[in-house]
Amino acid sequence: MPRFLAITSRGLLEPLAVEIEKLEVKRVKKRGDSVEFEGSWADLYRVHLNSRIATRVLLPVADFTAYNQEDLYFGVLRKHDFTKYIRPKQTIRVEAHVREHKNLTDQRFVAMKVKDAVVDQFRKKCDMRPDVGDEESADLRIVVRIVGNEVSLALDLTGESLSYRGYRKFMGDAPIREHVAAGLLRLAGWKFPTPLIDPFCGSGTILIEAALDGHGFSPLHRRRPFAFENLLNFQPSVYADLKKALPRKAAPSKPLLFGYDKDPEVLEKARANARAAGVENWILFQQRDVADLKAPATEAPGMMITNPPYGERLEDTEVAKELMTTFAKTLKNEFKGWDCWILNGNPEAAAGLKLKARVKVPIWNAQIDCRLLNYPIT
Ligand SMILES: C[S@@+](CC[C@H](N)C(=O)[O-])C[C@H]1O[C@@H](n2cnc3c(N)ncnc32)[C@H](O)[C@@H]1O
Repeated sequence: MPRFLAITSRGLLEPLAVEIEKLEVKRVKKRGDSVEFEGSWADLYRVHLNSRIATRVLLPVADFTAYNQEDLYFGVLRKHDFTKYIRPKQTIRVEAHVREHKNLTDQRFVAMKVKDAVVDQFRKKCDMRPDVGDEESADLRIVVRIVGNEVSLALDLTGESLSYRGYRKFMGDAPIREHVAAGLLRLAGWKFPTPLIDPFCGSGTILIEAALDGHGFSPLHRRRPFAFENLLNFQPSVYADLKKALPRKAAPSKPLLFGYDKDPEVLEKARANARAAGVENWILFQQRDVADLKAPATEAPGMMITNPPYGERLEDTEVAKELMTTFAKTLKNEFKGWDCWILNGNPEAAAGLKLKARVKVPIWNAQIDCRLLNYPIT
């Protein structure tokens, strides 16, 4: 059975491993910066239809040592047969990542050498060669990674990132990526039907991801098919059956998910996104400044998960810090009993809260080294 590697952002490996284990594939284990699992190709389709935290899945196909460009070229040519995946009239694309190699330092050159070797395999076998495809739509996507003299080759079976669900038609400033939002919900331990608030909800990503947990997740509004759908071994009927089996639930009669923002325009975007995701009835969006925010009437206190502006891109640090001081007052006065989780990318801004975090989880959001901070409000 093939062994696959699921990839995500730094800081989300643990929840990704738990998520993949729940999908009942075999031999799940963390390997470097990925989660390895074993399964059939149908299992791979299931992972694509259900994983909320993975950004892509790779199929490792060969490892070898290369001291120079000839070793690289002949390694690719001899170590794996790429002609079995596509017809020569389809397209290929190679993505290269190189670290710490004495001679092979130019990623574009490495990608070209690997592409040449693959193309020559096709020429020899079929007397025809595949063209190079563009980033969005190439059929066979090869990832080459070189660390020191060690080369690993893998197929990217996903294509456009799994983080792209297709519902986010409109974005506010500094939106959180969809798979990171899903990761925050898991790291905080939020589960439906616990009430959830995002007081700086922007385009609504955290709440929409939460609603999809209750309603049933679907990545099917994507712009493009997954890369595995272009391969010769693709089983359309197996995939179609798995798509049909995705469960759906109706929204609860009373709202449990609450999104607030001071900006009415961004709230319109959040509503439009929720509609596109099919969860507009699950979330109550209202315009509120955090200074005037009151806890919604829920049966019991719930959870707050949010990423406030932290002065990286939106506003300067001093303003963000003052906003955090205002936010802390609201938390203490209005949210006793609520469990608050804040994603912050600027410790100076977070200092404005003047609260001691119970837990700090390192996590990367859009190339920014952030912390998910937990403040149970007592
Ligand atoms: C970093 S963005 C949140 C992005 C969001 N997670 C998303 O995925 O789109 C921060 C949001 O805080 C809002 N905001 C700034 N100051 C606020 C305040 N005083 N009260 C409420 N919202 C505020 C901004 O309008 C902005 O939408």
